[in-house]
Amino acid sequence: MNVNNNSRGIWKSRMGFILAASGSAIGLGNVWKFPYIVGENGGGAFVLIYLVCILIIGFPIMLAEFTLGRKTQLNPVGAFQKLAPGTAWVGIGYMGVIAGLLIMSFYAVVGGWTLAYIVKSVTHSVLEFQTPQQAGEFFGDFIGNTQEVLFYHAMFLALCLFIVVRGVRGGIEKACDILMPTLLVILVILMIRSLTLPGAMEGVKFYLYPDFSKINGQVVMVALGHAFFSLSLGMGAMLTYGSYLSEKENLASATAYVVFFDTMIALLVGMVIFPAVFAMGLEPAQGPGLVFSVLPAVFTNLPFGTFISIIFFTLLAIAALTSGISLIEVVVAYFIDQRGWGRKKAVVVVGAIIFILGIPSALSFGLLADAKFMEMTFFDHVDNITSNYLLPLGGMLTAIFTGWIWGVPAVRNEIEKYKIRFHGAAIWGFLIRYITPLAVACVLLAKFFK
Ligand code: TRP
Repeated sequence: MNVNNNSRGIWKSRMGFILAASGSAIGLGNVWKFPYIVGENGGGAFVLIYLVCILIIGFPIMLAEFTLGRKTQLNPVGAFQKLAPGTAWVGIGYMGVIAGLLIMSFYAVVGGWTLAYIVKSVTHSVLEFQTPQQAGEFFGDFIGNTQEVLFYHAMFLALCLFIVVRGVRGGIEKACDILMPTLLVILVILMIRSLTLPGAMEGVKFYLYPDFSKINGQVVMVALGHAFFSLSLGMGAMLTYGSYLSEKENLASATAYVVFFDTMIALLVGMVIFPAVFAMGLEPAQGPGLVFSVLPAVFTNLPFGTFISIIFFTLLAIAALTSGISLIEVVVAYFIDQRGWGRKKAVVVVGAIIFILGIPSALSFGLLADAKFMEMTFFDHVDNITSNYLLPLGGMLTAIFTGWIWGVPAVRNEIEKYKIRFHGAAIWGFLIRYITPLAVACVLLAKFFK
């Protein structure tokens, strides 16, 4: 699929790039996190706010990141350094690199859970339960098992590093071409099964019917944070992917595709989970265990359940892998470009840092479950700090930088290379200069003054 004909490399095809960027966006955020935060934050009303965040904040920032990357052909630190040398704006790039390390440290823990569930589907140990309660207990025991979680954390990280060290793009572009459509097909099958369970409609109602009394500042903040997380925004991952693009591509339409694919998959996953949750008489506010305790019980009662379970957790692991790679690549690219390290050295050092940072997150459901600070475990804190603070802040500063410092005309010039017309330039300019930064600022300030 992908031929790297110079040292940096370049996407082979337009569709390859779109699928790879979608591969970064579509991951645990869509399949594992989205359903459980919808469950915890009141269902339909949350979904609606999330969609608004995607449109007026996610879309403009993704286009800004792609454009910054393609213009500079560099990692985030290098990109801001090139456009605004020696200024504080370079800090956005450093924030991104740090966020990448932090996110990957807990992402690899959950990625490890998905690997474990492939193995446990093969050995059938996860499919012995008739009720989600029992499956939930099994899951709880597993994530509290120190040796097992650390082993799978290391395994998942090792898989990602293995791909990154060999050069990401050939692998990602090729894998995403096959795996993303497969994921879609499996999800549709699961959705049909889920929707035909008795009592499924209660779940559909919870998921789609917006009850506005459930909306408060916290809910809006979580929706906004998740828009950043799900679209891989606010830390330069999309910027880095954009830096491997040629000048012929239409950045605005590529952005539209990636945003559409990511949102469609998230919405579809909700249609799998909530009908099943309600049909099984469960509470939707289950927290991080939602997907791991509900789906195995659903699979157990399906024809070819073992097979479907293996496939599902394999695809979940692969979706997580293509996202994890993009997180690591940002940090690795920084060490290669800015520090002059070799790729191998960068991968080893970055991998070691992430593994160590991830240990307390891995143990947050067992050994360190009671080691809470302000009612949250280490895992909760890293997730909260990155998704709800670092990514929105990074995104807001990126918006201000592209809208006001680099400037809308410069962005337009970059996008309109090779006779491409940027029809939405005026709307985009308005959103990125005013709406996006203001919306993010309001949400962040509301949190501080709460
Ligand atoms: N978007 C991915 C998901 O939904 C996670 C991810 C990959 C990410 N790269 C990122 C999140 C960069 C924030 C920033 O699972």
